[in-house]
Amino acid sequence: MKEEKQPERMLSADYQKTLADLRLKVSQMAKQKDRPLLYHITTYGCLMNEHDSEKLRGILETIGYQPAAKEDEADIVLYNTCAIRDGAEQKVYGRLGYLKTVKRRRPEMLIALCGCMTQQKIVLDKLQKTYRHVDIIFGTHNIYMFAELLMACLETGEQIIDIWDKHQEIVEDLPIIRDNPYKASVNIMYGCNNFCSFCIVPYVRGRERSRPSADVVAEVRELVAQGVVEIMLLGQNVNSYGHGLEEDINFTGLLRKLEEIDGLKRLRFMTSHPKDLSDELIEFIGISQKLCPQFHLPMQSGSNKVLKEMNRHYSQEHFMELVAKLRKARPDIAISTDIIVGFPGETEEDFAQTLEVAEKAEFDMAYTFIYSPRTGTRAAAREDKIPDEVSKERFGRLLKVVNQNIHKKSVALLDTIQPVLAEGIGENGKIRGRLNNNHLIHFDGDASLLGKIVDVKIVKARTFYLMGELVNHG
Ligand code: 5AD
Ligand code: SF4
Repeated sequence: MKEEKQPERMLSADYQKTLADLRLKVSQMAKQKDRPLLYHITTYGCLMNEHDSEKLRGILETIGYQPAAKEDEADIVLYNTCAIRDGAEQKVYGRLGYLKTVKRRRPEMLIALCGCMTQQKIVLDKLQKTYRHVDIIFGTHNIYMFAELLMACLETGEQIIDIWDKHQEIVEDLPIIRDNPYKASVNIMYGCNNFCSFCIVPYVRGRERSRPSADVVAEVRELVAQGVVEIMLLGQNVNSYGHGLEEDINFTGLLRKLEEIDGLKRLRFMTSHPKDLSDELIEFIGISQKLCPQFHLPMQSGSNKVLKEMNRHYSQEHFMELVAKLRKARPDIAISTDIIVGFPGETEEDFAQTLEVAEKAEFDMAYTFIYSPRTGTRAAAREDKIPDEVSKERFGRLLKVVNQNIHKKSVALLDTIQPVLAEGIGENGKIRGRLNNNHLIHFDGDASLLGKIVDVKIVKARTFYLMGELVNHG
């Protein structure tokens, strides 16, 4: 069992050798079984985790594993976990409990766990004590070591635990199997320095680290050459991109460079912290040809008292000013947000402010959460917790307000013609796509449309999706 191993430089040649050794081992095991080895990955949480899972899938497929149709049939089952709220963690414990019974039937099945949950000591202790049937446990800082850890597990048959408490370098030469051939996520930075008092992310993802702009530009160019037309730039706080880099660049500077890439049609990003959203970026949003009219601006609360206690460093008034500036710069912009209810000490008056601001801001989409205490964060130590029934009741009221607005925004799109990227074919046989502003739409069409941006007339508006008719394509 390895623990607290310090990062060492992983040279590409070493990495290739590990992959080659594993490929051999996997093919020998497949020969013995007389069938290909299968994997199954379940991803919880945010786009960052989904993107990490694409890397893990890339590693597994490079060494010869194939996707399993069902988890029970897989030779390796991997959970990429989320720690943002307790509910996400409980789901994983539930799955691990179930897998214990599967493993009794199929003892050779390997179970691996990674992601934000495992970066917490309290979780690691629990896993070591109660979940001994998990074979490989690793964290967020050493995703790229998965091949090595798997090799160690296959060779020794022992439980392998490898959690680093910090990240020392950014390793990007991983093979990646992307979810969608037309749109891709690209990390521009990792970690977060903000320490919002409710949030576990800075503890499990470490301090902010930006990737050099040349690396980001090269990755985007490569993706575009492979047929990708839409890129989502990922970072916990993209507005502080560039801090700590040797080059003199900020987020808008990076966007300017990406804007010049021929063949790239749509550019999105998330997430922006309101305290760091600059006029320079807003101005660029107004003139960019490639940035989509979509902006995720987490509000968290409408009460200045709560915002202060959340350590957010902006006021309700400043937030509303940003919303107004964004809409002025780009009138068709869709603004989405995150809101937490039931933060410790939240009074009815505080909550009324949240409702009021949510109504005034007219969000196009809102992700609403009941506050969940996370061990180790500042807010979790507070004693003035809000009773569950009160939080739930407030949550219901908030949902009503935000959903009404979301519906209103959808209805406003009726009868308009919008450019839509045809992304895939849904279970209903219809083409599934996204408007520039990220609204989901379904319409009749065939596979020849996939990957193209086509004009679609909006004929039906539901709260969370639209139905459309193809206008023309060519
Ligand atoms: N409880 C509830 N919601 C949380 N979020 C982050 N931490 C917590 C927590 N402890 C929400 C925030 C954040 C989103 C990704 O998750 O709204 O913006
Ligand atoms: Fe968490 Fe705040 Fe960082 Fe977002 S900005 S990841 S909410 S600490």
